[in-house]
Amino acid sequence: MRHTSHGLLQVLTIFSFVLVVTFLLLYTHTVPSDVMDRYITLTSVLLFTSLSFGQTTTSTAGPATYTNPILNGVGADPWVTRHEDYYYMTYSTNDNITVLRSSVLTDWNNADVKLAFSPPVNTSYSYDLWAPELHQINGLWYVIFTADVDADSPSPNQDMLCDFTCPAVNHRMFVLESSTSDPWESDYNIKSELDTYDQFAIDGTYFNHSTGLYHVYSCWEAQYISWPSMLCISKMSDPWTVSSPLSERAVISRPDQPWEKTPYNRTVNVRLSSNEGPEQLVNPTTGQQFIIYSAARSDNRNYCLGQLELVGDDPMDPSSWQKYTAGCVFYQNPDAEVYGVGHASFTTSPDGTQDWLVYHGMHDYLTGWSARTIRTQQFTWNSDGTPNFPRPGIGPYAVPSGQTGSGSSATSSSTGGSSSSAGVSSSGAVGGSTSTVLQGLPTASASWGAWWPTYSSTWQTTWS
Ligand SMILES: *[C@@H]1O[C@H](CO)[C@@H](O)[C@H](O)[C@H]1NC(C)=O
Ligand SMILES: *[C@@H]1O[C@H](CO)[C@@H](O)[C@H](O)[C@H]1NC(C)=O
Ligand SMILES: *[C@@H]1O[C@H](CO)[C@@H](O)[C@H](O)[C@H]1NC(C)=O
Ligand SMILES: *[C@@H]1O[C@H](CO)[C@@H](O)[C@H](O)[C@H]1NC(C)=O
Repeated sequence: MRHTSHGLLQVLTIFSFVLVVTFLLLYTHTVPSDVMDRYITLTSVLLFTSLSFGQTTTSTAGPATYTNPILNGVGADPWVTRHEDYYYMTYSTNDNITVLRSSVLTDWNNADVKLAFSPPVNTSYSYDLWAPELHQINGLWYVIFTADVDADSPSPNQDMLCDFTCPAVNHRMFVLESSTSDPWESDYNIKSELDTYDQFAIDGTYFNHSTGLYHVYSCWEAQYISWPSMLCISKMSDPWTVSSPLSERAVISRPDQPWEKTPYNRTVNVRLSSNEGPEQLVNPTTGQQFIIYSAARSDNRNYCLGQLELVGDDPMDPSSWQKYTAGCVFYQNPDAEVYGVGHASFTTSPDGTQDWLVYHGMHDYLTGWSARTIRTQQFTWNSDGTPNFPRPGIGPYAVPSGQTGSGSSATSSSTGGSSSSAGVSSSGAVGGSTSTVLQGLPTASASWGAWWPTYSSTWQTTWS
């Protein structure tokens, strides 16, 4: 790839060789020790430089590649957007809203880190901050996120009202607004709670349609019904205000397919079944509108992506939405030891020619929520305009089109024979990245694990 480096490498190698020979010749004669010291220093520097060039040249000789996961450590509910020269990522840290910034999509171990919001104590949004998303709307940036008042510990007086125990009964949706049009330099302040009619609401997102802006989120049938969770839609008058009354709120998807149910494919006691993590996806060629959501349950291997397509004119009309019922559109791949894939978001390659999904998946699926790590893969489009998702895997895969600078030591190790692991060595030496090294990387919480049975973790599926 870098032919000029090859030429430089040869010159440096020959020059170093000449110096080594000179050194050996001088050594056989008596020369002052300070002269010898300078020879040794110069020779060492040149040898080291040519060896470094050799490694760089070797590691970039083939197409640049990356492997999954793209962030070391536990991470769930990733959301990525591209703005100007950077990708921005948020994910569930549980305690705050953290935003990461990286020039490359495929390595976040050397990303810049920003604490966008740390909630005050004792408010309705102080605990369990989940699934944040960062959206640019009308010139400002909005973080839409889930939080609750009681760290999933409702009082017995409230819990008794639920059909089953209902730790998440007080989860609601909130919005932060940026102070400026710059997503990185801005302060973020609480703007509003989104009206979900005093009912359970998690994983909310914006759905932008020619008829206006909508809030799509994971909901229950009523305040104390407590699962299964569905997808609900309401109309918004601006990014922080829901304008439809409860009577107009519509349910656009229920976990009614065998692969959406937990326990798997049961007709009774399916209360752990989920539809959640909705994300808008627009076919850039045809304009077809989709909601890609997560189905089954996030703590086990069957978690997967399902697909709704808007086939009518009114997003608030449930009959406008058509579910792809043949199965998940993105699901576990035992051959690659990737399980429980879901909660995806969508972005593009730096040159805008490719579509990419960012999702979480599990290797050791028996450990539930704490097994989740963040991954990315390219996807394409079928001839009918629906998304064509790949099988989830580890790679190595080619980096996104137009990505320059590896920013990833994993990339050089996969092609250059080095044994370094991602995030351990400095990316600056390889990719020329100027980003700072990640400090205090937050990890996702597995706090729900204490509340729910995980008997579905080992459930066998028909497709594996
Ligand atoms: C939390 O807020 C409630 C209601 O505003 C108040 O009664 C209570 O004292 C507060 N608790 C703490 C620890 O601040
Ligand atoms: C919705 O999408 C249109 C077309 O891409 C864009 O011009 C508009 O700003 C978007 N509106 C919101 C609220 O995101
Ligand atoms: C679901 O269970 C029914 C009844 O046991 C069975 O006939 C059917 O094949 C199962 N379907 C799937 C998709 O596993
Ligand atoms: C944000 O929360 C995470 C998870 O508790 C924590 O590890 C991280 O240190 C927090 N960030 C800051 C800047 O406090």
